[in-house]
Amino acid sequence: MLSWDEPIARPNTPSPNAGSMARPEARIATHEVAASRPAATAAAQARAADAPSLDGERVRVEDKRVINGSSDVNQLVPFKYKWAWEKYLATCANHWMPQEINMSRDIEMWKSPNGLTEDERRLVKRNLGFFVTADSLAANNIVLGTYRHITAPECRQFLLRQAFEEAIHTHAYQYIVESLGLDEGEIFNAYREIGSIRDKDEFLIPFIETLTDPNFRTGTLESDQALLKSLIVFACLMEGLFFYVGFVQILALGRQNKMTGAAEQYQYILRDESMHCNFGIDLINTIKLENPQLWTPAFREEIRALFQRAVELEYAYAEDTMPRGVLGLNAPMFKSYLRFIANRRAQQIGLDAMFPQEDNPFPWMSEMIDLKKERNFFETRVIEYQTGGALSWD
Ligand SMILES: [Fe+2]
Ligand SMILES: [Fe+2]
Repeated sequence: MLSWDEPIARPNTPSPNAGSMARPEARIATHEVAASRPAATAAAQARAADAPSLDGERVRVEDKRVINGSSDVNQLVPFKYKWAWEKYLATCANHWMPQEINMSRDIEMWKSPNGLTEDERRLVKRNLGFFVTADSLAANNIVLGTYRHITAPECRQFLLRQAFEEAIHTHAYQYIVESLGLDEGEIFNAYREIGSIRDKDEFLIPFIETLTDPNFRTGTLESDQALLKSLIVFACLMEGLFFYVGFVQILALGRQNKMTGAAEQYQYILRDESMHCNFGIDLINTIKLENPQLWTPAFREEIRALFQRAVELEYAYAEDTMPRGVLGLNAPMFKSYLRFIANRRAQQIGLDAMFPQEDNPFPWMSEMIDLKKERNFFETRVIEYQTGGALSWD
């Protein structure tokens, strides 16, 4: 079995990720051909991605590339990026569905006047307010953006699975909202109406729009850097940082035996997102390895500035969701945690740590990521996962 531990930049193992939003009207471009490349190469790429010639030669491993490749993307084998294939298999092995988790205790607790404090209720609603749209943004970013710019079929295979998992996550958040009988208009519009959530999404949107722009093509230094930047923003900052205050909050509730069904849903989501983040980091590092010219000092500075901004935005979100401290958590603890995570993400893609050495104030989170050790932590799961049929609660 694979370890769920977060990867450090591995020079010989890359992999992809994506995540995020996309404009609904975005359309898939005819193809991603490098405008600046010789005509023959561009034509070969166009064939490879959109209409491969069946008269061509067999695919050779040495011709495969994560971006700007010219080999047939319809041929998964021969494998070159085995790390991507292995992660695809691992995510499939972790399949789960939101309806498998019993929400009856949560419903009872939410309805009871003494079940949760007002601050805890605010936290739950703000938390869901971010997540109910975040994973749709992630899914659209993959399907309408990232996917078409990636020319390694092993990586595309993972992205297809990841897109489905983002759908499952959106389903899970919707299922919690529905189970608790929350005001759907309030929760689903939070990304328009709550400043701290809107600011995070407004930070992300330009990076999604880059990839979903029908006229965007990789193949130049500038456009390849733009793609790499968007991949870093999604893997390291959205899935790798913006999700973590929210995960800590709901899992902290679960550790206090509150909202245990929601907490179990989040635990499965955290496991999935950890894999998405790891895949994205492998993807980024492989692109760097294959295209070292992209990793210029100016580019690295730009990335560091984005990390700084993301930490500020996520901290503002932490303060907004926990204005007085709740569950033994308070915003300053999250300042340490966010810096700890940002340092880790930076190092995973080959940047220096950004902040003075920060300790992890939530060491229990790493246990949460590893469900093998903590299986059925909350003991709310009624029965094991079944394929091919609906579950019964009898
Ligand atoms: Fe997700
Ligand atoms: Fe994800």
